[in-house]
Amino acid sequence: MAKHDLDSNYLDPDYEPVVNHAGNRPFDQVLTTRMQRRAVLKGSVGAALASLVGVGLAGCGSSDDDGSASAPDGTGGLGSQTPDLSMGFNAVPVSNANHVVVPEGYTTTAFLPWGTPITGSYPAYKADGTNTGAEQEQQMGMHHDGVHFFPIDLKAGGSSSTEGLLVMNHEYINQSALHANGATGASANGGVRPADEVRKEIAAHGVSVVHIKQDENGTWDIVFGSPFNRRVTGGTEMDIRGPLRGYAKLATKFSPAGERTRGTLNNCSMGPTPWGTYLAAEENWHGYFANKTQGVRPREQVRHGVDGTSRYDWELADNGADAYVRFDVTPGIGAAADDYRNEANTFGYMVEIDPFTPESAPQKRTALGRFGHEGVIFAPAKEGQPVVCYSGDDSRFEYIYKFVSSQPYYAATAGGYLLDEGTLYVARFDDDGTGEWLPLDLSDAGFAAKVTAAKGTTVGTIAFDGFDSQADVLLNTRLAADIAGATPMDRPEWGAVDPNTGEVYFTLTNNSRRTEEQTDAANPIANNQNGHIVRWKEAENNHTATRFDWDIFVFAGEQGTETVVDGEAVVTLNDDNIFNSPDGLWFDYNGRLWIQTDGRDEAPYQNNMMLAANPETREIKRFFVGPQGCEVTGVTGTPDMATLFVNIQHPAANWPDASDPRPRDATVIVTRDDGGVIGS
Ligand code: FEO
Ligand code: CA
Ligand code: CA
Repeated sequence: MAKHDLDSNYLDPDYEPVVNHAGNRPFDQVLTTRMQRRAVLKGSVGAALASLVGVGLAGCGSSDDDGSASAPDGTGGLGSQTPDLSMGFNAVPVSNANHVVVPEGYTTTAFLPWGTPITGSYPAYKADGTNTGAEQEQQMGMHHDGVHFFPIDLKAGGSSSTEGLLVMNHEYINQSALHANGATGASANGGVRPADEVRKEIAAHGVSVVHIKQDENGTWDIVFGSPFNRRVTGGTEMDIRGPLRGYAKLATKFSPAGERTRGTLNNCSMGPTPWGTYLAAEENWHGYFANKTQGVRPREQVRHGVDGTSRYDWELADNGADAYVRFDVTPGIGAAADDYRNEANTFGYMVEIDPFTPESAPQKRTALGRFGHEGVIFAPAKEGQPVVCYSGDDSRFEYIYKFVSSQPYYAATAGGYLLDEGTLYVARFDDDGTGEWLPLDLSDAGFAAKVTAAKGTTVGTIAFDGFDSQADVLLNTRLAADIAGATPMDRPEWGAVDPNTGEVYFTLTNNSRRTEEQTDAANPIANNQNGHIVRWKEAENNHTATRFDWDIFVFAGEQGTETVVDGEAVVTLNDDNIFNSPDGLWFDYNGRLWIQTDGRDEAPYQNNMMLAANPETREIKRFFVGPQGCEVTGVTGTPDMATLFVNIQHPAANWPDASDPRPRDATVIVTRDDGGVIGS
């Protein structure tokens, strides 16, 4: 199901309500002489939408390698040699077939579909939907999303391309496919839901860690019995880390001290860390909770859209178990530690999972902020320098954030502790093609002054009475960003850092709600149906900088859509590369940019797809088209780029197995018949 214009459809699993009513217009369209370099959108669609957009980015397209190449963990390039960004394949046409399409000379295989047994007693998948909740806890979850390949010898400095840990998110579920006869709804079942259906639904969420290996014929398979094989679900116990650990507003009956919680939910994209762990993002977590109060809901729920009903009614499980009741966040009459009024405050984070330490509890890294995290992308780590990562908040009119650690990175001792202390910034994109990172830190005089000035006013719909601590700021990251004066974006999705130039790219998937009056240079299109990709370079190419220069890499759209810089079309989309709603984004280890879509799967675009791009020339070619009804989301590769793993989420029909009545989310393995580098 496409996720556009769904505000009236609460039950849509990708529902992202407009909850930013702050209406920031922080920079008043400051026009400078640089505006003559502005890029504009043109073309058959663009003509009606044409308006001012970014500014040519000084240095864009140059390959001033900062020499920060690092290991194939997704946080840097593989070397400092001149990159080969050629794309020698023939672009594939759009497709509405119920199978995957790739260029001639490539082969695809569906791998690890939902329900595949991966751990424990390896219970077999049952095509009639009768697997139990306990069995689902040992099988692949549903709705595969962000994914990363960790070479098995990574910790020893190796870069195996034939064996590794494939770690992936399971964003949400298809209830009708999950159960034998669909979900048993509470309204038709005496107001309760069967507890084992709830258990199965929670188990189909979360993260899978799968030890995989290629045999001598080049065939990938699970390493059965490997101690690394693991499921993390919506019920796995985990720790709260960083400034929100122990904060009063995280106290629950489960953890009165506010130090622990259960589960991670709606894990969309992810980010591998420079020290070989995996951060899973919690995106549309708000929908899992219900606050049935007659009174006013707290701002830390309101600013995210928590309301009186939950998406799956887990709180109505018929066994009344604490593990399910907790999704009802209605305050009781006692103390916070007597109920689950604060349960939703333990969601909205980046969650660190160490795939190489299967017994380790996942860690919610609260210093990175609490919002609708789409994912996270690290800048290449440098010895003795802070760790820097970027994260988008995927809702209409939300923001892009950057975290800079307080402590320096040293490869020998680096770990998750680096993410527990630092400064969280939010981006303001100015119309002159520059931008500023605004600290969300009460110890910053500028931010503290804005907070003081906002006290007693209404911010969006929220009567603002201040923050009691930095923990309170982070709990209410969106509100803090409103007050700081960040730029509301057209739904920031995945980010990627160019390993050759250090430039940061973010997809802005679409925003049908932006009005003409709300346009700005970075979000220049009213009723932005197709989305665009923004990129920036930090001042002096230093990722800790507080200033940056930005431009728009490409506007998505149909044939003839132009991205124009200095009066010249630098991209004109044609049959080989029309697309809409860019979402997934990844730089491979050579520096090709992979763009995935989650958009309108209708003419002229047809099924969702993945394209490859040359960031220097802005050449874009369609490489992959998914089956009917899916979004193409999540991509990673082996260090040698001979195997690509591409996730297919929510296929509509009986894909990948035509004889199975249930659609099954799966990973598609892409290889080249001659064994060469994919995309080259
Ligand atoms: Fe989970 Fe923003 O897509
Ligand atoms: Ca996404
Ligand atoms: Ca998506």
